[in-house]
Amino acid sequence: MIKILAIESSCDETAASVVEDGCTVLSNVINSQANLHKKYGGVVPEVASRLHIEAIDGVVKQALIDASCTIDDIDAVAVTYAPGLVGSLLVGLSYAKAYAFATGKPLIGVHHIEGHICANYLMGLTPPFMCLVVSGGHSHIIYVEDYRKYKVLGKTRDDAAGEAYDKVARVVGLSYPGGPSIDKAAKLGLPCIPITKPKFHDETLDFSFSGIKTAIINYHHNMEQKGEEINVNDLCASFQSTVVDILTTNTFKAAEMTGVKKVAIAGGVASNSALRESFEKEAKKRGMEFVCPSPIYCTDNAAMIGAAAYH
Ligand code: KG4
Ligand code: ZN
Repeated sequence: MIKILAIESSCDETAASVVEDGCTVLSNVINSQANLHKKYGGVVPEVASRLHIEAIDGVVKQALIDASCTIDDIDAVAVTYAPGLVGSLLVGLSYAKAYAFATGKPLIGVHHIEGHICANYLMGLTPPFMCLVVSGGHSHIIYVEDYRKYKVLGKTRDDAAGEAYDKVARVVGLSYPGGPSIDKAAKLGLPCIPITKPKFHDETLDFSFSGIKTAIINYHHNMEQKGEEINVNDLCASFQSTVVDILTTNTFKAAEMTGVKKVAIAGGVASNSALRESFEKEAKKRGMEFVCPSPIYCTDNAAMIGAAAYH
């Protein structure tokens, strides 16, 4: 049995977890700063770094307590080293380095996006599989041929999916983080506002979300200028159905192209209810297996870092 103490601090969540053999979560502590950044409409990097410093010691100690472990039971320390906000990353990384050095345990650096993908190992998924990674900074279609063996088949040419969610939410007056707010509003609306999808050559699996975001912003401004009432729920439903449709189409196209029979999703946007439903439906139609992490393992957490570090 290998027990890994994992730490994640790349954005606005200070998180620590103890994971056994890369698949069993013994504890999962997440201290989210989202409420403190809400009033600014997004993460303020300097504020985030300072809050990580205040929280990290307590979060790590709590993760050990919840897992009924002491440091003597831990085999290695894992930590997100990139990508993310530099000041935020530095807090987790410095803490983990000091912890590993002081206790004589090995230190394992984990790439944040690899961590998101490996959240699926907590659900029992094994490679090969096609994985859509959609977070605040990334939108990638990644073919996971084997553990640690990745091939990027498609990616965004401009904004990440989560970034588009956050910007659209801000324009229509919904609170940060935009993804959950739009997800909620979309359930109360209808996708009745036509939004043009970006057109690429047939052979590409790339995404583009900047045009969709601009279309929503322009629609909102036009209606405001004309003094007409805007149905925010319909606007959110229209935006969400367009984005979900593109993400689903391209990922399953990638799966068909490679012949892989398992499809997974990862990253903060993977907790979106419409995206999960759409993938579920599409996989069933094509006789494929669909796996997704529980929503708590989609948004930033340290358990996924522990799962990645094991491999
Ligand atoms: O993976 P994550 O927690 O942090 C990054 O690595 O970026 O992803 C954060 C992103 C944000 O853009 C947030 O709005 C989005 O995930 N998100 C969602 C939902 N929950 C979080 N987007 C759509 N629907 C959701 N339910
Ligand atoms: Zn993330």
